[in-house]
Amino acid sequence: MSSPCNVAILVGSLRKDSLNRKLALTLIALAPPSLRLSILEIGDLPLYNQDWEADPPQPVVDFKQGLAAADAVLFVTPEYNRSVPAPLKNAIDVGSRPYGQSAWNGKPGAVITLSPGAIGGFGANHHLRQSLVFLNVPVLQQPEAYIGNAGSLFTPQGELANDSTRAFLEKFLQAFAQWVDRNAPRQA
Ligand code: FNR
Repeated sequence: MSSPCNVAILVGSLRKDSLNRKLALTLIALAPPSLRLSILEIGDLPLYNQDWEADPPQPVVDFKQGLAAADAVLFVTPEYNRSVPAPLKNAIDVGSRPYGQSAWNGKPGAVITLSPGAIGGFGANHHLRQSLVFLNVPVLQQPEAYIGNAGSLFTPQGELANDSTRAFLEKFLQAFAQWVDRNAPRQA
């Protein structure tokens, strides 16, 4: 059996009690053996500034190394004002530069948006996909994942309280595992 694929999860919310972080931890627990999921933190990244491209701050160096070490990326994010939260957009920009040295290029990816609102972060999901097209990240198409009405999705202990969502997440992860297998850059 080949070794598991390393997947970096980027969580679009920085808050301590984030529902999206709870979802990311749930996904880590549910992942099939072929996927090794871990959160790549984005909260320490400075706001992108082209001036420091030649000599980037240490958190930027660390983040880009973490991204380079990942075989695939999974975005788990809320929607802010019908778009991508600023910390996540910042991480995307940081990883994309200097020009010609994007850490995103060719890495297979997937997007899950989650919101207490009814439409499950649809706007953020598709704004994010717009950037990922440009960054040459092949993004899983189906199943789409807009998880709405998420205010009661987790117990106070952070455990998933809904069996149908668990079944959906397992199906999503299976599809993502196949997607990664099909699209991961091959070693020569
Ligand atoms: C929100 N929220 C929100 N929800 C939504 O469904 N669509 C939206 O456009 C927005 N916009 C928005 C803007 C800002 C600045 C904040 C702080 C919040 C609500 C948001 O979905 C909710 O706070 C989630 O719980 C945030 O995700 P985490 O932090 O729980 O992971």
